[in-house]
Amino acid sequence: MQINGKAYRTIWFENNTVKIIDQTKLPHQFIIKDLKTVKDSINAIKTMEVRGAPLIGATAAYGIVLSIIEKNDQSFLKKSSEDLISSRPTAINLKWAVDRMIKKLSGINSDEILKVALEEAKAIVEEDVAFCKSIGENGLKIIQEIASKKKDTVNILTHCNAGWLATIDWGTATSPIYHAHQKGIKVHVWVDETRPRNQGANLTSYELNEEGIPNTIITDNAGGILMQRGEVDLCIVGTDRTLSTGDVANKIGTYLKALAAKDNNVPFYVALPSSTIDWSIKDFKKIPIEERNSEELSHVEGVDENNNVATVRIYPEKSKALNLAFDITPAKYVTGLITEKGICEASEKGLRKIFK
Ligand code: MRU
Repeated sequence: MQINGKAYRTIWFENNTVKIIDQTKLPHQFIIKDLKTVKDSINAIKTMEVRGAPLIGATAAYGIVLSIIEKNDQSFLKKSSEDLISSRPTAINLKWAVDRMIKKLSGINSDEILKVALEEAKAIVEEDVAFCKSIGENGLKIIQEIASKKKDTVNILTHCNAGWLATIDWGTATSPIYHAHQKGIKVHVWVDETRPRNQGANLTSYELNEEGIPNTIITDNAGGILMQRGEVDLCIVGTDRTLSTGDVANKIGTYLKALAAKDNNVPFYVALPSSTIDWSIKDFKKIPIEERNSEELSHVEGVDENNNVATVRIYPEKSKALNLAFDITPAKYVTGLITEKGICEASEKGLRKIFK
């Protein structure tokens, strides 16, 4: 997608180095950062220089490549895989990508291993781009249907950033929106700010602006009244882990938006590539929910009138704060799952129908 009129992906490989867009600096600064070691990859995932389930999966895949460049040794590779998988706990794409890399590399001799690893990491990246594009084509039908009945701007609410910055290109939740915009359908996006890290305000609004898509940032609590006023036609969000039951883990606050949508008969769709499906557990209480540093709540970063970036504390110094990063939306609140294979019911039956 575009930044300043130039097409970018969120991650690429060049001269034995992984290049990323440092998302902790957006929207105020656009900085491309080099990852040269597996430690750099782990750090980029932990500090959220890269974030979003598919992108951290791709970063972990390239992390395996960097680990082989550093030290072509089986025990180092094993340790690197474990450290990459545990760098963030909720998004299943991380484990999925590392497991896929390790499976591909098993039995490959040390002369060949780097070549094979690089090919597989690139395949993961290309597959994600293709899947996100298909998600867009499939989700477009939902927007087209609403547009044909409404004959006016379609208002879509999204939470967090499930945009191209969270993937390699296109995004998941945003892909149907980009496809609709390209088809000339009038869309407007309500962007949940997404406290505490403000991925909605800092990243989703930023990328929609760059693509010329009208959007308005709202506080995380505003979606309910907008739905009551009939100003939301549709919600589309992303997910970090979707169980075969159709239950969905996504950024904290998604669940409350789904409840409000249900109460107001607003369709609530979740967009995901199959790499985000966890077929191994059925009980959503078993999904590890990441708890991040409470300073992400108590401190806020912004720019002053001279465009200098500054961080300020906004909470009383003595107050405790709890920073749960994800919540679960039970399948019963999900209208449908938009995947690369089509749209299905959020249930085991629905998923099994399209993912044989
Ligand atoms: O903590 P983040 O910013 O990594 O959380 C991202 C999300 O919750 C996204 O909605 C999810 O990863 C889907 S990205 C296509």
